[in-house]
Amino acid sequence: MENKVTIAILASGTGSNAKALLEKAAQLNQVEVACVITDRAKAGVIEVADVAGVECKVITSKNCGGDRARQEQMVTDYLKQKKVDWVFLAGYMKVLGSNFLAAFKDEALGVNRVVNIHPSLLPSFKGANGYKDAFEYGVALSGVTVHLVSEELDDGPIIAQASFTRGVDDSLSDFMANGLKLEHQLYPDVMEKLLTSKFKVHRTGDARLRVVLEG
Ligand code: GRF
Repeated sequence: MENKVTIAILASGTGSNAKALLEKAAQLNQVEVACVITDRAKAGVIEVADVAGVECKVITSKNCGGDRARQEQMVTDYLKQKKVDWVFLAGYMKVLGSNFLAAFKDEALGVNRVVNIHPSLLPSFKGANGYKDAFEYGVALSGVTVHLVSEELDDGPIIAQASFTRGVDDSLSDFMANGLKLEHQLYPDVMEKLLTSKFKVHRTGDARLRVVLEG
């Protein structure tokens, strides 16, 4: 019998990236989506998971008496109980701590099996407002980055980036729409390659790693 790779998607918002990932996963025989997890009781992603027929577990900090560490532990325990191999963050607005990352460390590869999409060309414009910060800076070119998650915020090994130009008359919402369109193409494509082992981890400098996709 074919070995399946089990994944989970964590999201806090609308869930448009979660939707793109779920649609791609449905086309991949070797991939099973164990669950979607959200930390927001009214997140749009709950409906997205429902439409895809995937369980959505809501684990908010409020459920845990406002204790962020306990919330993260509950998420970790749930993912372990579901035997999740890879975690895909799709607009999950909590920074994950070292215990969570250690639970998904791939010792052989020396990286965490936790993937994120960030709305800028890293290492520029790290943080929660990538599109807004890049737009307000006045960039002529921006983009999106898919990377592995490390303990430093938005600093893990880069897997793939895609760019778009900013038109002189573009509003922030045009800018964000252009970026989101790219996210929805890039993230599922990267997910497929990672889950079908079409990648290698390269050391690019003394300390930095880079994931190179194949094919
Ligand atoms: C995306 O822009 C993603 O890059 C960022 O959060 C946003 C989530 O959007 N991390 P959605 O919920 O997937 O529509």
